[in-house]
Amino acid sequence: MKKSRLAFFAGVATLGLALAGCSGGGSGGGDAASGADSRGPITYVQGKDNSNVIRPLVDKWNAAHPKEKVTFKEQSDQADQQHDDLVQHFQAKDKGYDVVDVDVVWTAEFAAKGWLTPLTGKLKVNTSGLFDSAVQSATYNKTLFAAPQTSDGGMLYYRTDLVKTPPKTWDEMMSMCSIAKTAGIGCYAGQFAKYEGLTVNASEAINGAGGSILSKSGAPSVDSADSAKGLSAIVDAFKDGNIPAEAITYQEEQGRTAFEEGKLMFLRNWPYVYSLAKTDGSSVVKDKFAVAPLPGASGVGASTLGGHNAAISAYSDHKATAKDFIEFLTNEESQKYFATKGSLAPVRTSLYDDADLIKQLPYIPTLKESILKAVPRPVTPFYPAVTKAIQDNAYSALKGDKTVDQALKDMQAAIKSAGS
Ligand code: GLC
Repeated sequence: MKKSRLAFFAGVATLGLALAGCSGGGSGGGDAASGADSRGPITYVQGKDNSNVIRPLVDKWNAAHPKEKVTFKEQSDQADQQHDDLVQHFQAKDKGYDVVDVDVVWTAEFAAKGWLTPLTGKLKVNTSGLFDSAVQSATYNKTLFAAPQTSDGGMLYYRTDLVKTPPKTWDEMMSMCSIAKTAGIGCYAGQFAKYEGLTVNASEAINGAGGSILSKSGAPSVDSADSAKGLSAIVDAFKDGNIPAEAITYQEEQGRTAFEEGKLMFLRNWPYVYSLAKTDGSSVVKDKFAVAPLPGASGVGASTLGGHNAAISAYSDHKATAKDFIEFLTNEESQKYFATKGSLAPVRTSLYDDADLIKQLPYIPTLKESILKAVPRPVTPFYPAVTKAIQDNAYSALKGDKTVDQALKDMQAAIKSAGS
């Protein structure tokens, strides 16, 4: 019993397969192969296009495909709201959500429910030349369910006018906070509101200190001394003000705004922030920041693996068009465009050695390193319960409502029961 329960988290073992098999066929995803030849107008659904890269690409597509036009449906900028919106539309078997942008952590859940079309047979897409981790994140039950679209790795944005050499370790970073204090600004922030971003940040603190959410065999392992050290680091930084109190409400966008307004010395965020902080009219740090690897407990830390993949809804009536469109989003030209225009992380590894790109985007080697070393979040159809276990307990610890030890104990128990 215990074994099979834990097997969910490895995402590969028998019980996981059996379950995915049942619900995939039965819960009304429809015949995955149906419509594989059909063409016509489609809708593409994605979270807020902060970087303004999707509309121009959709326009380009539409100019070349007048009978297979794409309409862009833009969701909010918050990961959890994007997830819930997709779930509602899948549950309603909405034919109007043809191609959907799936966060790397939703693949298993959506695929197991039968909501995504397997990219097999006529819908097969070529994944050679893409980051393995990105392909893995789009795969469930050994089947590809989405085309890797953008990867994501956390990086440390820092103010070059205040910090000459970026910190390599968390303690080094904290010791620099006196500089921020003197400058009258906040020292460090990440994403600490209670949502998916907190799972990302709490996992980074835990992994960066040598702890882990799951063991190599997939068993919950977060209740450990190393994890406690990692989580305590952010709890203590809130207590002593090195993380400003308002950061408990921050998702990505609030942190980006604070950094662009010159109110933070260090910010953990994703690569999309780079081009906005360089070009936004309101950014006062345009020429005053650079990017470094995330600091860890005793050296460079480990990012949580992020990213998004483009999937075809099981309910789409125009799957052949949808397939061409997801290939268009992931081809080399579009990937380069995402990077140069929006500083999004390409999924194509060759672009990280592209001389043009390195010249224009000096952080590219740091980003490549971040993605190659990044730690994936648990792979399970029950991910919503797992992430809730992490968020709720990390948040209680950050607020001082639970001790770090109690939070990790409760987190471990809740992760365990999520898989049963
Ligand atoms: C970014 C990442 C995604 C993550 C989310 C959390 O969008 O790409 O993987 O879940 O941030 O807010």
